[in-house]
Amino acid sequence: MKPSYTTMPLAIQAFFVSLLFFSSIASAAIVEHVFQVKNVVVKPLCKEQRIPTVNGSLPGPTINVREGDTLVVHVINNSTFSITIHWHGVFQLKSPWMDGANMITQCPIQPRNNFTYRFDITGQEGTLFWHAHVVNLRATLHGALIIRPRSGRPYPFPKPYKEAPLVFGQWWDTDIEQLNLRPAPICDAYLINGLAGDSYPCSENRMFKLKVIQGKTYLLRIINAALNTHLFFKIADHNVTVVSVDAAYTTPYGSDVMILTPGQTVDALLTADQPIGMYYMSIIPYLSASSLAPAPPRKVINSLIVYKGATSTTSPSRSLMPSQINSVSTAHRFSSNITSLVGGPYWTLVPRHVDEKMFVTMGLGLEQCPSETKCAGPSGQRITGSLSNRTFLMPGTISLQEAYFYNISGVYTDDFPDQPPIKFDYANFRVHTDSEKKMIFPERKTSVKTLKYNSTVEIVVQNTGIITTESHPMHLHGFNFYVLGYGFGNYVPARDAKKLNLVNPQMHNTVGVPPGGWVALRFIANNPGAWIFHCHMDAHLPYGIIMAFIVENGPTPETSLQPPPSNLPQCTHDPTIYESPTTNVGLSY
Ligand code: C2O
Repeated sequence: MKPSYTTMPLAIQAFFVSLLFFSSIASAAIVEHVFQVKNVVVKPLCKEQRIPTVNGSLPGPTINVREGDTLVVHVINNSTFSITIHWHGVFQLKSPWMDGANMITQCPIQPRNNFTYRFDITGQEGTLFWHAHVVNLRATLHGALIIRPRSGRPYPFPKPYKEAPLVFGQWWDTDIEQLNLRPAPICDAYLINGLAGDSYPCSENRMFKLKVIQGKTYLLRIINAALNTHLFFKIADHNVTVVSVDAAYTTPYGSDVMILTPGQTVDALLTADQPIGMYYMSIIPYLSASSLAPAPPRKVINSLIVYKGATSTTSPSRSLMPSQINSVSTAHRFSSNITSLVGGPYWTLVPRHVDEKMFVTMGLGLEQCPSETKCAGPSGQRITGSLSNRTFLMPGTISLQEAYFYNISGVYTDDFPDQPPIKFDYANFRVHTDSEKKMIFPERKTSVKTLKYNSTVEIVVQNTGIITTESHPMHLHGFNFYVLGYGFGNYVPARDAKKLNLVNPQMHNTVGVPPGGWVALRFIANNPGAWIFHCHMDAHLPYGIIMAFIVENGPTPETSLQPPPSNLPQCTHDPTIYESPTTNVGLSY
């Protein structure tokens, strides 16, 4: 018989009370890490390559925290690159200087310099990740950031037997410095937890293996840390139950396939309910753009589930991956069917009143090729990108947030429009008039939109057919947004606004806009500071598919932007370290 609490001797009761007391203290722990950024030699395929890493590993270290903890990371930059580390999806409430967005919230940490990131993680649970936020470097500088409930709080789903992070990466078998200096070539492989698996040369015996026991349930914490590619993920003969996306709980959603854009995460329960054996867990690129882009090979990348008791002589079961033909509909089905866990932890009702309505066109464009350079775009011009016909120009000498805080003029203009300059047939773009022709050549400037504290913002992002339609993963720093709806073609308010889901929409920090389609998002600007909204394809950062919000102070010091920490990295005047528009030209995957 179990002793009930009240029948226990007093001393033991006191012991339990003090345990409770300590556990409530323990629920606000300080979790401290040292990130030694250094170049090391790795060999995922046949050639040795020197790459920047955190603590020598690829992917970098997994950070485990509980909701309510303070995370402290000392970044010691012993690499040859200037870097920042961004905590992708972390709200950074009251800590906007810790967001790690290069030239937005700080200048980069120079080689042989240090910086300590320190912030609380509150009001969110699930799987996120950290990554470098400087062109291309996040290819090798990334790792999982796992937020579990505070102690004593259960998951809102059956407790898994074990948990396993699965980090997808993209690999170029090239010196990473070369990647910065020419059009990024097509990648050579994708990696699952740093390994290319048995479908790649020199990698046959290096494959991530998840050992399972028949009948047990596992929580897969899946992260797409690839630079430029949406990835399908599928497990042979097993279905999974999605319980969270981008660290926001979902209504349990059963599926045999998933799609993750760069920057998205999925938590899914996997029950080992099949006969004892070995089963591939595989990824394959999802390519939504038409012909123009040089495409990486549609080659399956494998990892493996190994049941306890399986014999190594049988070959693993494989799954049929989505084909190029059905990939758009497969991706759309998965993305659009997920809903939020209403009433679950951190769920809040969708605000009905909207203060700021924005309609933002998003896609590619062209600009004049600089003299003495060769450009890969149509008729020798350079490919660029835009939001509402603006190409974002990264500040060059001071971060946007410092320019705002210190009121330094000439760094940005507060004029990001609520509408593109003209109305046109966005998704089926054709030039009939001069003003339509102007839409191909966006204006390059550092343009922001200022928001009142606590205002509700609705953004409809409309993908254009300028150059080509393509699914871009739009990522917002500092906030989660509700995804109220997805559609193909042009967003027509009279038809589409009434179909938006205001009841249980999914929440994300990154959303894949359907190719030639739209998404409708809503968020509450409750976090003063400078926050960017950008395409999470790394190749599209230098294209300028970025805009920034500045959220004004609230009524109290608590809700106001505080001065930056005194050791916030300052800019040197070496222009090569910034996300200069002259680096990547040409489309790259
Ligand atoms: Cu994960 Cu601004 O990005």
